[in-house]
Amino acid sequence: MSNIEHIIAPVKTEMSSFETYFKAALESNVPLLDKVTQYIVKRKGKQMRPLFVFLSSKLFADTNDTTFHAASLVELLHTATLVHDDVVDDANLRRGFFSINALWKNKIAVLVGDFLLSKGLLMSVENNQFELLRIVSKAVQEMSEGELLQMEKARRLNITEEVYYDIIRQKTASLIAACCAAGASSVDADEKTVDRMYQFGLNVGMAFQIKDDLFDYGFGKNIGKPTGIDIKERKMTLPLIYALNHAKKSERKMVINTIKNHNTDSKQVQKVLEFVQSSEGIDYSISKMNTYRDKALNLLFEMPESEAREALEGLVHYTINRER
Ligand code: IPE
Ligand code: IPE
Ligand code: MG
Ligand code: MG
Repeated sequence: MSNIEHIIAPVKTEMSSFETYFKAALESNVPLLDKVTQYIVKRKGKQMRPLFVFLSSKLFADTNDTTFHAASLVELLHTATLVHDDVVDDANLRRGFFSINALWKNKIAVLVGDFLLSKGLLMSVENNQFELLRIVSKAVQEMSEGELLQMEKARRLNITEEVYYDIIRQKTASLIAACCAAGASSVDADEKTVDRMYQFGLNVGMAFQIKDDLFDYGFGKNIGKPTGIDIKERKMTLPLIYALNHAKKSERKMVINTIKNHNTDSKQVQKVLEFVQSSEGIDYSISKMNTYRDKALNLLFEMPESEAREALEGLVHYTINRER
């Protein structure tokens, strides 16, 4: 069952207190910053990462202060990377509203992202939560590496499926893995368990990003952010990679040429989008996504049965069935 109410149920009080923590963590005396962060708070996302943190701790014990700081920290970092990502991707829509760069331009967006990042890290330092800091800082490093690896490979257009998995593992799965590890670690789960939870999160995270990349090829659907922009940004994702590897030579040439030389020409890009949509690349990506889902579920089922485990199971299904 992937009904969101059912998923939140075991951590309902945590999720509502989380809002207060998160808001407080964003405070600043600089009026401009305050204006931007208020804008961010009002347009919150799905908050899946805090959910992963809380549920991963509830698997083993009751949540505590460290769990709350972990949830706030990951959502802060996630928000920071989204603000930066929209600059990098030149995207003007986020969570159904204008992105920060669309409203305040790139310069301000970059600085606001830095502010959010440092606020998160400082919060953990001030509370002496160094284990948490270790888990999460590693993810932040990987996320930047993942985005840069993506740019490097995209420029050469020689990306293989294996490299694609490396990219999404770093840029997306590592943070979700950190959420699950941090949740378990906040209630002093043993090292082996924390590691299993990290692996669980890594697999969910892989499925999460494949789903996100599929969104980019699903048109007419309102997902609260632009669709069809990955090709414009020369972002080669699984549906396209598979379609290219199984295309006729002539089609391959057309696609490569468009991405290389006409990636800002809407008409030409549209042709590539249609090529991918009618290819087996979509079904193939769905089946890969399901494989990661199943790996995640198998890891989860090693954990003790509880209401929290059932909710996490629901959250895994939600990850791949969600509509935004
Ligand atoms: C978007 O993450 C960024 C990716 C890693 C694809 P979410 O889809 O969790 O974004 P929000 O927080 O709900 O807006
Ligand atoms: C995920 O990639 C970016 C991060 C990990 C920050 P995308 O660029 O596909 O994410 P969206 O689609 O803009 O949310
Ligand atoms: Mg983006
Ligand atoms: Mg995307």
